[in-house]
Amino acid sequence: LLSVTVLALNACSASNGATAPSAAPGAPEAQSSTIGAAGIGDPDFPTDGNGGYDVEHYGLKLSYDPTSKNLSGTADVRARAAQPLSRFDLDLHGFTVRKVSVDDRPAKFSRQGDELVIHPAGALAKGAVFKVTVDYGGRPDPVRNSSNLGTYGFIPTKDGAFVTSEPNGARTWFPSNDHPADKATFDFDVTVPSGVTVVANGEMRGAPVTSGGRSTFSWREAHPMATYLATITLGKFTVKTGQSAGGIPVYAATDPAFRDGLGMLYSTSAKVTDYWSTVFGPYPFSSTGGVIDDFSAGYALENQTKPMYGGFQPDQSIIAHELAHQWFGDSLSITRWKDLWLNEGFATYAEWLWAEHTGGTSPQKTFEDYYSAKDAPMWKYPPGAAQRDDLFNNSVYVRGAMTLQALRRKIGDDTFFLLLRTWTDQHRYGGVTTDEFIKLAEKLSGRTLTPLFDAWLYKPTRPTLQ
Ligand code: ARG
Ligand code: ZN
Repeated sequence: LLSVTVLALNACSASNGATAPSAAPGAPEAQSSTIGAAGIGDPDFPTDGNGGYDVEHYGLKLSYDPTSKNLSGTADVRARAAQPLSRFDLDLHGFTVRKVSVDDRPAKFSRQGDELVIHPAGALAKGAVFKVTVDYGGRPDPVRNSSNLGTYGFIPTKDGAFVTSEPNGARTWFPSNDHPADKATFDFDVTVPSGVTVVANGEMRGAPVTSGGRSTFSWREAHPMATYLATITLGKFTVKTGQSAGGIPVYAATDPAFRDGLGMLYSTSAKVTDYWSTVFGPYPFSSTGGVIDDFSAGYALENQTKPMYGGFQPDQSIIAHELAHQWFGDSLSITRWKDLWLNEGFATYAEWLWAEHTGGTSPQKTFEDYYSAKDAPMWKYPPGAAQRDDLFNNSVYVRGAMTLQALRRKIGDDTFFLLLRTWTDQHRYGGVTTDEFIKLAEKLSGRTLTPLFDAWLYKPTRPTLQ
């Protein structure tokens, strides 16, 4: 079944040789196909995302009951057809799909693994904007222990749910084009038993509406967002809101177990957001903040406007990291997972900048300490090609950050910080690749930098220092 859908090549997946179709790419039947591909074209994650359309907006109207662990409702997905479409997929894991319609007309659908295959009643023309409505429900089944990623997706907790989806767990709670190459705006209307708080991305649209023992929270993220950064984390939270000194609205929330850390989370998030705005360029979103839940995820995630800390009190360094991701990862998003160092290398470098800013070690000293470990495993793992089975390897973080320090030494502080600000400005809310970063660095510095980037990003050996 998979190879049939892969036959429906779009521009992106045409270069994906991972799944060999039985007809040659570019064969007339493939070119004229009106079937959206089952994947968006990421060679390492061939069925993540989908081909043939671009989502503009998700409108999610959902109810969650922490007792039965049932999540149910409708997803309205507004998209634009990138080709004529007689059939296309959304990504969805688990649940019972009760009904699908396209532009309010009932559509036939089937389930093939994590693909929800939709046949609209009438074919969609290239360029058409259309609305898919999916009525679904059931017990979310988060992704567990797939290639050392831990548990991710919609994770039920005692009092609600912890929702962090990197890299591809959005499908465990809503039908989506589940890949960062397709970003969209979001509306969330989530109903829970009264007493439970819903924390989603962006800002609340008015106070929650309560009736009959249930409350509905409405949130809106008006800036484009990758699916993995979407959240509707639910539970008994204490909330603190206000504004940073620089005028950015702040929303911080903690599970009762972390109540004592709420003040620190709030004030550090405010301070860090203001400081990064002076270093990386204007803050890209309309609010900042963070959430500490009691689910021991063993990681934090840079959910847009609402970084999530899974079962631990974050220190300043982690808060600095997750908020740096608001620029590197959230506003500027990678278009294939191989380029993950553009997120993690930059956010780790931000930790080093924060340390220096607060009177600690300089980035150069941090660099030297790591460099002196001649046998560190990261020298065998080139960070510029994050590996699908070991995506979040330490090298992607630390050797990625070292790449930036090596670059900074080569091009000088002024050009380096101009580069960071030009990078975030030129690609704000967009998609990025490593090649684009290298080209911009070469342009602004007037130097040839491919040998430096080759050695730091792409070679399985410890680079020599120039
Ligand atoms: N991007 C996160 C961070 O560096 C890590 C997410 C890890 N995801 C996972 N499923 N383990 O802060
Ligand atoms: Zn990170």
